[in-house]
Amino acid sequence: MITEPTRNLALELVRVTEAAALSAGRYMGRGDKNAADHAAVEAMRLVLNTIYMNAVIVIGEGEKDHAPMLFNGEHVGNGKGAEMDIAVDPIDGTRPLANGTWSALSTVALAPRGTMFDPGPFLYMDKIAVGPQAKGKVDINAPVKHNLAAIAKAGGKSVEDVTVIILDRPRHEQLVAEVRRAGARIHLIPDGDVAGALMTSWPDSGIDALLGVGGTPEGVLSACALRAMGGEIQGKLYARNDDELRRGREMGYDFEKVLTMNDLVSSEDVFFAATGITDGEFLDGVKYFGSGARTDSLVVRGQTGTVRQIIATHRWDKLNQFSAIKY
Ligand code: FBP
Repeated sequence: MITEPTRNLALELVRVTEAAALSAGRYMGRGDKNAADHAAVEAMRLVLNTIYMNAVIVIGEGEKDHAPMLFNGEHVGNGKGAEMDIAVDPIDGTRPLANGTWSALSTVALAPRGTMFDPGPFLYMDKIAVGPQAKGKVDINAPVKHNLAAIAKAGGKSVEDVTVIILDRPRHEQLVAEVRRAGARIHLIPDGDVAGALMTSWPDSGIDALLGVGGTPEGVLSACALRAMGGEIQGKLYARNDDELRRGREMGYDFEKVLTMNDLVSSEDVFFAATGITDGEFLDGVKYFGSGARTDSLVVRGQTGTVRQIIATHRWDKLNQFSAIKY
C-alpha cells in the first residue's frame, strides 16, 4: 500500500539545533561552560516551542554539573499535534566548547510518547555501538576480543584493521588494554560520544565501533540516530559507586540488564538532528562571517532511514528583524 509521506519533524528539529549552535558557538574558547550552556538551552527552548507537537522531555541534561537545563518532565512544543518524547543535549561537549577544542555539537531526538528509555537520575551507561555491517553480531556482555573479532568478520577484514573509539577517561584503562591485546586500533576522544557512536554508521569515517562508559542521555540520543542510520547500540546502566547501585536497585533499575536498541527507543518513528558547534570529525563547527553564519547539521528520520546533511547560511539582518534570539 502506498501512503502519502507524513510530516518530517526532523526538518523542524534542525532549526532547534541550529539555533542552539549559533548561540552557543559565540562562547567557543571563552572558558565559561555555564554561559555557553545557558545560551544553548534558551535558544533551544524558544525554537522547540514553535514546533507543532506536544512533547515531554524524557532526557534532559545539566544535573551532572549543575548547569542550566531543559528539565525532565518539561512540556515543549506548541502543545498541539503528535504526543512525543524528546531527548535533548543542547551541547554535547561543553568542555571542548569552553576550551575552544574539537567536536562540540548540539543535538535533539523525538519519538512517540512512551517509547524512550527513562534512565531516572542515572547519568552513566556502558555502551557498545557498531555500524550496519556488524549490527546483530555483537553482545555487550561478551569479551572485548570476541566483539572485535565479530566486527572484523562482519566487515570482511582483520582485527588489526578495526578502529574503536573510546572516551579518554581513567575508567577505561582496562578496556584500552583489552582492545590493544586483541590487536585493534584505538581512536581516543576527549569528549563527545554521540559523535563517536554516529561515526560507526557514517560512510568513510573509518570508525568501526564505540566502546566504554559515557553519558546515559548521549546513549539514548545515539540509539535514536542509529535506528535510522542502520547501526546498533547496546547499553548497561553504570553505577559509579555502591551508593548509586543501592539507590538504583531501590528505584527498580537493573544495572545488569542489557538495554537493546528497542529498550532505548522502542519506535521506528524517530527523528534526530545534530548541528556542529566546534569543528568535528564529521560536522563542521559554526563559522561566523560578520553578516551571518554557516552551520553544518545532520538530520535523520527513522521511518524512511533518510540521512540528510544540511549546510545552512543564516543572515543576521533578516533573522534579527523577528527572532527572539539575538544572534
Ligand atoms: P557534556 O558536554 O554534555 O557534559 O558531555 C560530554 C561528554 O563527553 C559526553 O559526550 C559523554 O557521554 C560524557 O561527557 C562522559 O561523561 P564524563 O565526562 O563525566 O566522563
